[in-house]
Amino acid sequence: MDCQRKTAHMVQSARPIRSEMPAIELSAVGLEAARILSVLHHAAFLGREPWDKTAIGQILALQGVEAWVACVDGSSRGQGMVPVGFIISRYVMDEGEILSLGVHPDWQRRGVARSLLAHVVKRARQDRATLFLEVRFSNEAAFGLYGQLGFQQVAVRRRYYEDGEDARLLRWSPG
Ligand SMILES: CC(C)(COP(=O)(O)OP(=O)(O)OC[C@H]1O[C@@H](n2cnc3c(N)ncnc32)[C@H](O)[C@@H]1OP(=O)(O)O)[C@@H](O)C(=O)NCCC(=O)NCCS
Repeated sequence: MDCQRKTAHMVQSARPIRSEMPAIELSAVGLEAARILSVLHHAAFLGREPWDKTAIGQILALQGVEAWVACVDGSSRGQGMVPVGFIISRYVMDEGEILSLGVHPDWQRRGVARSLLAHVVKRARQDRATLFLEVRFSNEAAFGLYGQLGFQQVAVRRRYYEDGEDARLLRWSPG
């Protein structure tokens, strides 16, 4: 599968047709995908979080880090598979941390993030690993998504973000 090799232009121009629910394919990616991950990250977070290609490359190089890209079928626009979302997580022993998750704004609310997160949860269940993540207190969309997949709030980290916003610490346990 070649979707991680697409250009930033393709990501931006592969707009869905109204309420199109895409067929989603997930692809494990490595350092070679740092550029496309930075494009998707910038688009999803509206440029507000400083995760450029270099920063993402450094994260991907850390031990235990895994990244997945979600691609949709853009063949109706002559584009083949087009990357529209990503998830990056890190595993140490029996614990995993979701470091980042994002979907291009044009493709949000079509189940792309749920598909990426469900994949990570499935892997954690198989490995009997507990997952953690921090999410901005104001991020109702993400909080709703994580709740759907069984994550629960276990703590609040006061002034966790540079701008002073609190974070919810969420946990998913294999039971
Ligand atoms: C949060 C985010 C990843 C969700 O991606 P997505 O592909 O649109 O999510 P999905 O379509 O899979 O939605 C799954 C569930 O999440 C919740 N959700 C997603 N977007 C939502 C929104 N805008 N408002 C309220 N709930 C929302 C809903 O519970 C939704 O289920 P439903 O559609 O059956 O109601 C996406 O909005 C995004 O990239 N945001 C910016 C980056 C970010 O906040 N990342 C998470 C940081 S921890």
